[in-house]
Amino acid sequence: MSGVKELAYVVYEVTDLAAWEHFGTALLGMQLADKDADGLSLRMDAKPYRWRVERGTADDLVVSGYEVAGAAELDELVARLTAAGAEVAEGGAALAAARRVDRVVTTVDPMGNRIELVTGFADAETPFASDLLLGEFVTGAGGAGHQVLLSKGVSREAYLAFYEGVLGFRISDIIVEELAPGIVADLIFLHCNPRHHSVAFGDMPHPKKTHHFMVEVTDMRDVGMAWDRCLKAGQPFEMTLGMHPNDNMFSFYVTTPSGFAVEYGWGGLLIDDATWEVKTLDRLNNWGHHPMQAELGWLQAAIANDPAREDAHR
Ligand SMILES: [Fe+2]
Repeated sequence: MSGVKELAYVVYEVTDLAAWEHFGTALLGMQLADKDADGLSLRMDAKPYRWRVERGTADDLVVSGYEVAGAAELDELVARLTAAGAEVAEGGAALAAARRVDRVVTTVDPMGNRIELVTGFADAETPFASDLLLGEFVTGAGGAGHQVLLSKGVSREAYLAFYEGVLGFRISDIIVEELAPGIVADLIFLHCNPRHHSVAFGDMPHPKKTHHFMVEVTDMRDVGMAWDRCLKAGQPFEMTLGMHPNDNMFSFYVTTPSGFAVEYGWGGLLIDDATWEVKTLDRLNNWGHHPMQAELGWLQAAIANDPAREDAHR
């Protein structure tokens, strides 16, 4: 079954465009492609943009754009969406031009997330340049990155019927961890190319449609340098440095100006479908990824209880 081949772009609607420009460029190392009063576009690679950030009140994800291999494959997808009873419409020439694609079809997932299925997402006329990165963002066949979305009480069966059954995603793995008595994190990770997952779904209490977007870099030092830039800028962190046991991502989580997070990572695992076995894991992290508030509490306690430090201040 031919389905989507990669996460091409996302669109966020945000209240503070200036904060997002600073966050994307000066902290994450993206390149400002263009901006006007209504929004701005951020580049991560040869594509004209990977994030479109528009002025509005949602402070959330409003569109996920997935690229499809070609016109015939998109026709097939439209037929499957229609047969499945999904809302589906041609986006039209103006939207296709704005998105810098040949054709765009719009649909909506069972959680109400707007999805655009596109063909012909062309490269920009100019090469990508970051003032900050030592290496590059990892994109290519793996698309722009991955995102974790909230299932909002929709059953796993219902959203898998859409993402697996219609869009053609394949299950990577599942993580079920009891974080505290009675509080269980249950996430399912899906891939559509070698990147371990392009999308994952969790049923945790969260006010947004998206929990985080992950950007990956080729040089591990860029994770540390991005951490330092966020720290110095006072950008709130959601989680400290850590590593996930399923995709092996070495990463930290920083809070965006809209309240959801960005995972900034290195070293993500690639899947070979010929040999991959779907597993259920029992923990979200091998190490780290502590909530930042807890980490600060430990640090303060350690400082308060350190006799050597007391001596140093006498
Ligand atoms: Fe992630």
